[in-house]
Order: sequence, then C-alpha cells, then structure tokens
Amino acid sequence: MLCYDYTDKTQDVCNLTDILIKRAHRFSLSTIKEKIKELKTQRNAVILAHNYQRGDVQDIADFTGDSLGLSQQAAKTKADIIVFCGVHFMAETASILSPDKMVLLPDEHAGCPMANMITLKELRIKKEAHPDATVVCYVNSTAAIKAESDICCTSANAMKIVSSIPKDREILFIPDKSLGGYISSKLNRPMILWEGYCPTHHRILAEHILKLKITNPDARVVVHPECTPDVIALADHVASTTGIAKYCKETAAKEFIIGTETGLLHRLKKENPQKTFYAITQLADCSNMKLISLEKVLWSLEDLVYQIKVPDDIAAKARLAIQKMLDLS
Ligand code: 13P
Ligand code: SF4
Repeated sequence: MLCYDYTDKTQDVCNLTDILIKRAHRFSLSTIKEKIKELKTQRNAVILAHNYQRGDVQDIADFTGDSLGLSQQAAKTKADIIVFCGVHFMAETASILSPDKMVLLPDEHAGCPMANMITLKELRIKKEAHPDATVVCYVNSTAAIKAESDICCTSANAMKIVSSIPKDREILFIPDKSLGGYISSKLNRPMILWEGYCPTHHRILAEHILKLKITNPDARVVVHPECTPDVIALADHVASTTGIAKYCKETAAKEFIIGTETGLLHRLKKENPQKTFYAITQLADCSNMKLISLEKVLWSLEDLVYQIKVPDDIAAKARLAIQKMLDLS
C-alpha cells in the first residue's frame, strides 16, 4: 500500500480506499467537531439538518427542522455555503431558493425513494387526463416534478395549501398517497392521489401501536401523515416532524409513542429529558437519511462536495411552485 499523506495534496493518490481509510482515522470525534466548526467559519457556511439525521449530526447543525423550516432557513441564510444534512430533494429545494449559494449534500447517494416514485413522463400523461386539475406537489419530489406542478406543500402546511385552492377545482396530489389521503379525509375533499408512499413510514404497523398501548396505556400516540390510514386512525395527534416535537414539548403527557422515522427521538429526548418516548418500531429507519455522518460533513466542507445545482430553466419553474407555498405558510 502506498504510504500516502493526505495532508500533502501534491502527492499522487494511490487509490480511493487508501484515502478513505486515512481520512476515517485522521481525527478523533471531538477533533472532527472542532474541524467542522473551524471550516464552517472559514468558509462562511451554515449547516442545516433534518430531524431524521443521526444525533451527532443534528447536534453540530446550526438549524435542525422539518422540510418547511429547512427551506425557510435556506431561503433567508446569509451564508455563502449551505451544507444540507438531509436527502437530495431537500438540497435541491435549498439550491432553488438560494441559487447564488453553493449547496452541498455530504453524501451524493442520499436520495428519497418516494421522490423517485413519479416520473415527468407519467405526470404529463396524468395531467393530460385531468387538464383542469391543480397539481399539488409534496416537497418530497424532484425539481423537475416541482417545475411541472402548480404549488408545493410539506407535511406541515399541506392542509393550508389544499384549503387555499377553490372548492370547485379538481386536485391532483403527488406523489404521497398517504399524506394526500389524510388531507383529503380531514378536509372532506376528494383528490386524485398518486400511488407513491414512504417505505420507511409504511413499515410502521397498527399492530405495533396496539401492542405498545397494552404496556403503556397512558402514552399519547403521535404520528407523521406519511403513515398508513390505519396507523393514523390510532393517533392522538398527526403532524410534521417539527409539529411532533412541538406537541410533545407543549403537552402535559409524560409518555409518547412516536410514529415516524426513529431519528426524531434524539431531538425529542434532548428537548424533554423528563419525558419518555417509545419508537413504534426500530424498522422505521430511513437508510438514506442515515448516510450522512460527521466525517462526511467534514469532508464536504473540506472538498466542497457534493454540489447540488438545478438547471436554471427547471429551477425557475420549480421556484414558482415553492414560493407560492412559502407565501402561504
Ligand atoms: P417533515 O420533516 O417535513 O415532516 O418530513 C418528513 C420526511 O419524510 C422528510 O423526508
Ligand atoms: Fe423519503 Fe421516507 Fe426517507 Fe423521508 S423518511 S426521505 S419520505 S424515504
């Protein structure tokens, strides 16, 4: 194996494995955190992290939040660089809202399976079949799909966004059938639903909740609207990830059964050390969200990777749909 000093950029690189091994052992955890802080200041960067990120990543972030909160932060930041600890569509949204800034996603493979459950070709065919429908697009979608939509929404504002559309207008809700179905039943408003879903939230089953309720009868059940209708039917409260955090903080109850990706429990426990939280199932783990690690955040800041940029024409159209949502939020 070539003895390679990574700090000496003039030397030739033997192979990628050498670099990664060298890098992984270069610093201790506390040094990694220090280096991230240092580089963040040097580069005038801000770190945004979704509520599903690993605990140590959430802890070094400047802002941790849900999709809505993160896009609002991305739109108003004064930083030159946004390090987005989340998945691809979130970094794309940040880049659309802040086109002059450099947006970095620390792992280029962090995607969202739900966002990939709709293609432009399929959407155009559906739109042709429903030419008068208003297309409401969940933010968990690619920039190209947003560009083809009338307005975006997140789980935090979907109710408000759908309510803003005149009652006589047909609505095509894409791509999450669970969020769409929940909003449709809450507002008693029929909508055409796309057949997409979140594989992580669909691993949460009603039987898991019923079992937990036997041993913890006083616990409040709080779930995300990406869950299936039978799970939602058992919930005391349904909200976005930040909405769940707010509810758990403000409610007097002491025990909560949480129906969303397990990463949120880090924030819940940190903010409410005197309360008890039960994950409905450890299977609700989004492997894409968990691709981001502290080391990758450091490498991202060192090497300015991986830069997420949306082509100008697509970004301009997608921005209209996102901005309409932000104006209503
Ligand atoms: P929110 O944080 O907006 O509730 O979204 C959940 C989610 O699944 C993001 O991928
Ligand atoms: Fe996509 Fe679900 Fe993961 Fe969110 S939790 S990024 S919706 S797969």
